[in-house]
Amino acid sequence: MAARIAQTTGAEHTAILGLGVYRPVRVVTNDEVAGPINSSDEWIRTRSGIKTRRFASDDETIHTMSVAAARGAIESAGVDVDQVDCVIVATSTHLQLTPAAGPRIATELGMNGAAAFDIMAGCAGFCHGLALASDLVRAGTSKNVLVIGVEKLTDTVNPADRSTAFLFADGAGAVIVGPSEEPGIGPTVWGSDGTQHHAIRQDKNWIEFFREIDEKGLDAVRPYLAMEGTAVFRWAAHSLEKVCRDAIDRAGLSTDDLDAMIPHQANGRIIDIMARVLKLPENCVLADDIEETGNTSAASIPLAMEALLRQGRSKPGDTALLIAFGAGLSYAAQVVTLPDWR
Ligand SMILES: CC(C)(COP(=O)(O)OP(=O)(O)OC[C@H]1O[C@@H](n2cnc3c(N)ncnc32)[C@H](O)[C@@H]1OP(=O)(O)O)[C@@H](O)C(=O)NCCC(=O)NCCS
Repeated sequence: MAARIAQTTGAEHTAILGLGVYRPVRVVTNDEVAGPINSSDEWIRTRSGIKTRRFASDDETIHTMSVAAARGAIESAGVDVDQVDCVIVATSTHLQLTPAAGPRIATELGMNGAAAFDIMAGCAGFCHGLALASDLVRAGTSKNVLVIGVEKLTDTVNPADRSTAFLFADGAGAVIVGPSEEPGIGPTVWGSDGTQHHAIRQDKNWIEFFREIDEKGLDAVRPYLAMEGTAVFRWAAHSLEKVCRDAIDRAGLSTDDLDAMIPHQANGRIIDIMARVLKLPENCVLADDIEETGNTSAASIPLAMEALLRQGRSKPGDTALLIAFGAGLSYAAQVVTLPDWR
């Protein structure tokens, strides 16, 4: 008879126990980014909803921003750093492919041997990380999981590209996911559509770049992020309503139960369309951190969550729909209870 393998079971319920963020110091106006792309403050505001964003300095790296956000999350969760036994870093801008950013971040936080790894699901990365973290705790694989969404998109965006330069920005947000008496993270609805893999992509891989160097020498152009803006807009505006409705449904709720909707801060117009088609109740707050933060990809949802709580527009215990989408194309959504913050 085959040996019987033991399996673990963990907490019945999970929740976001704490939240922390890091916003780079330098605030960048539309006028500053408009110059190289022959655009204007007015065009950028109307097409994207962005008024300002933050760009990281050389000292504000994927590691330093992650550590700062994570410290805030650990403090606000009130857990001991030793109780966090897994770190998931969602990012598409950690430009060193090996090793992953997670282990060094865990060590810099003072963790002793925690599991640590990176995941890449574009702008949907944070909600993918949240899904993994919740299931790890429920399965008994981990006690508490640190999920970080972090991006330094100024390292990958071409300041002269009209379709991306005004949109993307830098920052980090982190949460602690752990056991809870009540359900605080609903079932995740997620998926992908690889037929649209070209819609948001690195425009060439490193081997292609090296070949270009051989051919063109100093005229070779480094890889940059490329986006087919109209295709992404159409997909997001028309495909994500069902994802949102399924996530609300699977949480056993209706839109009337939502106190807040915190969509990925992709573009103000996409956010408004999603809220309109869902017919959110009047008292449901819609996150609009894109105005001051721009599109920070995997970092945008925890940053927008912090903004709502800091501004007092949402409060701990509120029920919020999270929906993230982006490169892949990939998406993930779940309903959560907002954490006790600070
Ligand atoms: C990028 C985006 C704002 C461009 O808006 P758009 O209306 O699709 O723009 P188009 O490319 O069709 O161009 C429309 C006009 O604006 C102009 N334009 C394009 N980019 C411009 C810029 N940065 N500044 C000024 N004008 C610009 C074009 O030249 C064109 O002018 P024309 O009508 O005189 O020919 C829009 O497609 C978008 O928001 N897409 C979604 C992107 C997104 O959310 N990505 C993140 C997903 S994670």
